[in-house]
Amino acid sequence: MRTIIEPFRVKVVEPIRMTTREERDAYLKEVWYNLFLLRSENVIIDLLTDSGTAAMSSEQWAAIMRGDESYAGSSSFYRFEAVVHDLYGFKHIIPTHQGRAAERILFSVMCKPGQIVPNNTHFDTTRANIEYTGAEAMDLPIPAFYEPSVYHPFKGNMDAEQLRTLIGRLGPGRIPLVMLTVTSNSGGGQPVSMANIREVKEVCSRYGIPLYLDACRFAENAYFIKLREKGYEDKSVEEIAREMFSLVDGCTMSAKKDGLANIGGFLCTNDDLLAQQEKDLLILTEGFPTYGGLAGRDLDAIAVGLREVLQEDYLQYRFASINYLGRHISDGGVPIVEPPGGHAIFIDAKAMLPHIPPEQYPGQALAVELYREAGIRSCEIGSVMLAQRNPCGDGEKPAAMELVRLAIPHRVFTQSHIDYVIEAILQVHERRETIRGYSIVYQPPFLRHFSARFEPYDEASAAKRKPAYATSIVA
Ligand code: F0G
Repeated sequence: MRTIIEPFRVKVVEPIRMTTREERDAYLKEVWYNLFLLRSENVIIDLLTDSGTAAMSSEQWAAIMRGDESYAGSSSFYRFEAVVHDLYGFKHIIPTHQGRAAERILFSVMCKPGQIVPNNTHFDTTRANIEYTGAEAMDLPIPAFYEPSVYHPFKGNMDAEQLRTLIGRLGPGRIPLVMLTVTSNSGGGQPVSMANIREVKEVCSRYGIPLYLDACRFAENAYFIKLREKGYEDKSVEEIAREMFSLVDGCTMSAKKDGLANIGGFLCTNDDLLAQQEKDLLILTEGFPTYGGLAGRDLDAIAVGLREVLQEDYLQYRFASINYLGRHISDGGVPIVEPPGGHAIFIDAKAMLPHIPPEQYPGQALAVELYREAGIRSCEIGSVMLAQRNPCGDGEKPAAMELVRLAIPHRVFTQSHIDYVIEAILQVHERRETIRGYSIVYQPPFLRHFSARFEPYDEASAAKRKPAYATSIVA
């Protein structure tokens, strides 16, 4: 059969509340055009994130019932640890309540002010947690990464030559660790090849610098390697994942993505001393090392999810469904990051709305219009999220790309939901010249996209207002 179907059937349903355009106009005003501030009941198709939004399987729900809620030595922890150990292979496995908690602990232990952490591309929480320690988060992707329309099979790769030059220039003492984010989330869910992991590891080993994976979407990355990298076509995704982890010294993980769980994360390392320091910090804010901020039942759900996500029928369907969305909108003229990513389609808002300058946030404008048009919630990954802000004054340097991410939650939507999304995007594309930009009227000092407030851009009031670096409401 050529038709690829959802390799699961529906057992429990969650009703979707339909809304009218007039209602959505009002909701947008109420939340200051920030889609993070919408109530989910006012969203028809929620593509904000694939994180923590998976539909759990019957096996995961069964595992939830087995959860052992003992404070110390819970059997849920040992089941979880056995699975992570089997698939990831690290000596120390430290559970945390989600990925960013693992990041905070790792960077608190490893980074000092003035140091630099290179990554292919940092995600927002990774960057923020590094910068919170006083170190600098530096992106070193290959050049193709910054060209949305250019096809590259491993657009998430790190530029190993630039890494070599950087270490040569600064000396290894300034670089406490190097990270590779698999897949690279901020630029399209693009994979990193095994050859690139190996090459980056060789550079790190030469200077004695540990290499870590930000492994949130490890299964999708492994499946891309199977599909696109020579020599891996006959290996199982599980074998490929094991090989990826065997090349590195540790990882951070958000089990909310490829753990198919609604909450959870962990931190892995082979270094005994580091693990001890990390566990000491864990106890301070997350909890005892056999639960780390999670309930025993969450650990059981993760243990099952980590195995389910590696099923190739599932990954084949997931990629087919995301490609279907990407191809249909791209054939309709919508510029997307090519090729489609593993967890999302990213629309290139800069190319779609060239009349809106980065200072007026074209990605935000597009995300707002998709909501207004059809109740679809997407996520801006552009200057709202990633602009470099001047810490001691006004102004900011726009992000390299202005993208809107349509992240597909695991096992939640059917093909007709996706058809609805396609129709809405094409309708918005049709009237793209009428779309206007936004100004920020309030923003917090970091991770501003979660709580910033916007207003439709208006030249007269923008001229009166100071540029957008403020810690209080200035509207
Ligand atoms: N690293 C990457 C690559 C991520 O995409 C995320 C989260 C994290 C780390 C942090 O994990 O949320 O469990 O604390 N990304 C979500 C997203 C929020 O929507 O892409 P967390």
